[in-house]
Amino acid sequence: MSRNFRHWPLHQKVVLMPAHHLRVGKYTLSGTEDFFDPAFAIQHNDGNLTSVLYYVSHNTKNIDSNVTQTTVVMKDDVYPLEVKLCYISYVKENIIKTWTEIVHQEKKPVTINRYASSMLYFEAPKYYLTEFSGDWAKEVNMSNQQLQFGKKIIDSKLGSRAAMYAQPFFQLGLGQPVQEGQGTVMLGTIGWTGNFQFTFEIDNASNLRVISGINPFLSNYELKPNEVFTTPEFIFTISEEGTGKASRNFHSWARDYQLKDGKGDRLTLLNNWEATYFGFDEPKLEELMKDAKNLGVDMFLLDDGWFANKYPRNSDKQGLGDWDVTKEKLPNGVPHLVKAAKDAGVKFGIWIEPEMVNPKSELFEKHPEWAIHLPNRERYYYRNQLVLDLSNPKVQDYVFEVVDKLMIENPEIAFFKWDCNSPITNVYSFYLKDKQNNLYVDHVRGVYNVFKRVNEKYPNIPMMLCSGGGGRCDYEALKYFTEFWCSDNTDPIERIFIQWGFSQFFPSKAMDAHVTSWNSRTSVKFRTDVAFMCKLGFDIRLNEMKEDDLKYCQNAVANYNRLKKVILDGDLYRLVSPYESNHMSVMHVSPAKDKAVLYAYDVYPRYSEKLYPVKLQGLDPAKMYKVEEINLMPNQNSGLKANGKVFSGDFLMKAGLDVFTTRQANSRIIEITAQ
Ligand code: DGJ
Repeated sequence: MSRNFRHWPLHQKVVLMPAHHLRVGKYTLSGTEDFFDPAFAIQHNDGNLTSVLYYVSHNTKNIDSNVTQTTVVMKDDVYPLEVKLCYISYVKENIIKTWTEIVHQEKKPVTINRYASSMLYFEAPKYYLTEFSGDWAKEVNMSNQQLQFGKKIIDSKLGSRAAMYAQPFFQLGLGQPVQEGQGTVMLGTIGWTGNFQFTFEIDNASNLRVISGINPFLSNYELKPNEVFTTPEFIFTISEEGTGKASRNFHSWARDYQLKDGKGDRLTLLNNWEATYFGFDEPKLEELMKDAKNLGVDMFLLDDGWFANKYPRNSDKQGLGDWDVTKEKLPNGVPHLVKAAKDAGVKFGIWIEPEMVNPKSELFEKHPEWAIHLPNRERYYYRNQLVLDLSNPKVQDYVFEVVDKLMIENPEIAFFKWDCNSPITNVYSFYLKDKQNNLYVDHVRGVYNVFKRVNEKYPNIPMMLCSGGGGRCDYEALKYFTEFWCSDNTDPIERIFIQWGFSQFFPSKAMDAHVTSWNSRTSVKFRTDVAFMCKLGFDIRLNEMKEDDLKYCQNAVANYNRLKKVILDGDLYRLVSPYESNHMSVMHVSPAKDKAVLYAYDVYPRYSEKLYPVKLQGLDPAKMYKVEEINLMPNQNSGLKANGKVFSGDFLMKAGLDVFTTRQANSRIIEITAQ
């Protein structure tokens, strides 16, 4: 047994990637002579605060020709404590998933104060961090900084709408700031739909320690004997060709292994939220269903406001928790709506927010103890609501039944939008009583129990993860969701930045983008062309649209359906960054390199600005490609000089295409087809 496992070069066993900067896999312990932030800390039954873990064994098994799992077992020689470091590596995608399992056989529960999923240790001359932060309607702002001696922490303490201020992912530039097309970068993310923490610490040796895991904030977890504490998965990749390659690693891994129905199709839709808010009735919804059909989308999605009777959900002040249809508003219930959609020729999807409760609801009147709130202090409300206590199995049953009852009554429901608008406030669980330290962790585990049960019973139903916009966007939740709502901000200018940000980690098919009336100073074409690069939907009053705009949208939906395979499953190349220019351009290329879609957006060009051609990527240099502008307005001629012409892939990638203009909020969608 080697005493100082901390210097054991773990990564050589598990890192199947060009990782010469990744020096050793460490799992630093508190109370020993590592004087930096620990990955693991415990208090034993006798009060002792130290642990020393010895290497015991490891094993590697091939799951299939692409996937290998390695487990390293370590034990304390004084206390009955075992820690396993687990790694799954995906060779083709160059992705590693890592987590830790902790178990003990002491007489009474121990307290674990730190329980990171992983710790990585880097050696490079300089370290640069790109973080993603924001707020409601301001998701994933990217900012960069050079790390210096000491610590930088990115974390969330929001509990449920956990990613509202900081998203659970980051990029590291090793030696130089991250760049799209070159340089060594590491992209990491944690699969945890709750409080997370990333600690970046440069130590005395000028090496960088990256500790990722659940945020230990208010969570000194009480762990019973023989109960295995499994941490969330930390997922990362290293690329020697910049963030573009690293993102493509993530996208193909997510489609092949992580995302619910990652390889499957996605439904285009018309949502009624911004068209009606809470103000609808049956005839209005029936009209919208016909509009959806006329537009050419697959589905009508009914949003918030369809439930509760004693306190009808006519605003966000009441009704949440009471999941019976509002009789006065919708006298014939959900079955009638499903049938009306079917008659109109579209599928029917429905919004729920089952983890929450308005105090003004029958549920709260009956079960106040099911809501997380302090018994002895004045309550604080976020969006007039409280979070249900999912650490309580009875509450888990109730939340599961929200979906189950709807599905039993309406087996033809084709989609759920699952919302979550409040962070955990007034933190106290009536169920956990004197174990309040376990609430933040056990609550999230309860949420997963429900997701799992829903998924096991209804494996084929697509679901959108939503949290007051993009407040939930992690790869654990996305095992159970086909997609997520990126932001309530659908102003196309803002969306260009938001979609650029999320695309660093998520494939287009997971990112929902809707055409709405936000920033209606921009054209409907521009708004649609921006949503076109993700999973397309509409949330706009089509009956008020100008005839030409509607015709344009119908044509765009038809184009989208025709090109869906490339848009949703193609490789994404980010060509021109909105952070570094007044434009943005990306493209999707089919795996066979026979079809591509190029998106070009003029955001806010300067007067008479010098424009440069955009050099395409990912094509076959030897193939000949036809270039055609699509999504034109009725009677609009393409101003693209290359339109209709044929070029070699080599030319398109070396000389490029003149796609930008000096018009503000202008867009071009270009279809590229191998001849
Ligand atoms: C927040 C979501 O992000 C919106 O899309 C909408 O569903 C509202 N909640 C409904 O309350």
